[in-house]
Amino acid sequence: MDQDLIKLVNKLQDTFANLGGELDMPQLIVVGSQSAGKSSVLETIVGRDFLPRGQGIVTRRPLVLQLIHTPAPSESSPSSPTYKEWGQFLHIDKRFTDFNEIRKEIEQETFRVAGQNKGVSKLPISLRIYSPDVLDLTLVDLPGLTKIPVGDQPSDIERQIRNLVLEYISKPNSVILAVSPANVDLANSESLKLARAVDPQGRRTIGVLTKLDLMDAGTNALDILTGRVYPLKLGFIGIVNRSQQDIIGEKSMGDALDSETEFFRNHPAYRNIAHKNGTKYLARTLNQVLMNHIREKLPDMKAKLNTLVGQAQQELNSFGDAAIFGDTNQQGALILRLMTQFARDFISSIEGTKVDIS
Ligand code: GDP
Ligand code: NA
Ligand code: MG
Repeated sequence: MDQDLIKLVNKLQDTFANLGGELDMPQLIVVGSQSAGKSSVLETIVGRDFLPRGQGIVTRRPLVLQLIHTPAPSESSPSSPTYKEWGQFLHIDKRFTDFNEIRKEIEQETFRVAGQNKGVSKLPISLRIYSPDVLDLTLVDLPGLTKIPVGDQPSDIERQIRNLVLEYISKPNSVILAVSPANVDLANSESLKLARAVDPQGRRTIGVLTKLDLMDAGTNALDILTGRVYPLKLGFIGIVNRSQQDIIGEKSMGDALDSETEFFRNHPAYRNIAHKNGTKYLARTLNQVLMNHIREKLPDMKAKLNTLVGQAQQELNSFGDAAIFGDTNQQGALILRLMTQFARDFISSIEGTKVDIS
């Protein structure tokens, strides 16, 4: 039921997008300084290698990533030899079944729009991942906050990226994944500074503390992870991503998750909070947060939908017989009718009751 609810919301978002409208749906936005580990965190949430990662500025356009839970092929259609999971971009009509190809396509698309030399563009890349192994989430990967212009970056690059990030996280509907590396003093965390600017009470910000494995010997982040340093209602979750060495050595995602689990279990400071840290716990938390978020928005969404359905109904009526006998208006009428039906289904599914609008 809850999975269905989220799926329905994703579908609704598409419907509105196709109709040229916009419904302010919750999205998870990854924010942090350059090389904090944002793309790595996203990748492990998805459970596949597909994002460009590395030293310096790698992510140079927003990536809007929609994860769509899809039943495994054997469950849906046993006869056809379909792929278990695949990716699809908005800018190209093609199914990507090889995740290395997805990474290459992101890189090429980045180069195409943001240039060869470290430039940043606010034009997003839209990617959907269909897989039996994902939770239904929409995530946004953003260029890292930076201070000093490099390459073709303009002198005001810091301000430009700040504004780009603010554009995404200031939507009251967004959930902020504020990524900070554990080997830098939290007081200097750019992500927490920005998150605080738009979410002063820390209601929709999740602190993600990466690079716990890179802290100086003899130090640990227990105080931060247990919420004694910085107040966030949703708390801090510690993460150990793959190091650059791991990436070069092509360490698998499964092995990385196992080492992460081992890290928390065996670490004297984190042993007792191991179950509340790590990538898997982060993914579960995200899903929970997203569902609560949607639930809070339901009354508002319902009101918006009712208005839209009313408008659609009026337009449908004005098409009159043309809608039935078919002419140039036919398609428009059909879309409106489908949308009306869709909105009805949506409203009745969130209320658990049948709704009669017409
Ligand atoms: P982004 O710029 O914030 O998207 O960061 P990336 O995900 O591209 O990571 C930057 C670099 O830091 C890469 O070389 C990663 O391998 C490395 N890295 C990220 N997280 C961790 C971590 O938790 N531990 C270690 N050792 N390295 C990490
Ligand atoms: Na990077
Ligand atoms: Mg990145």
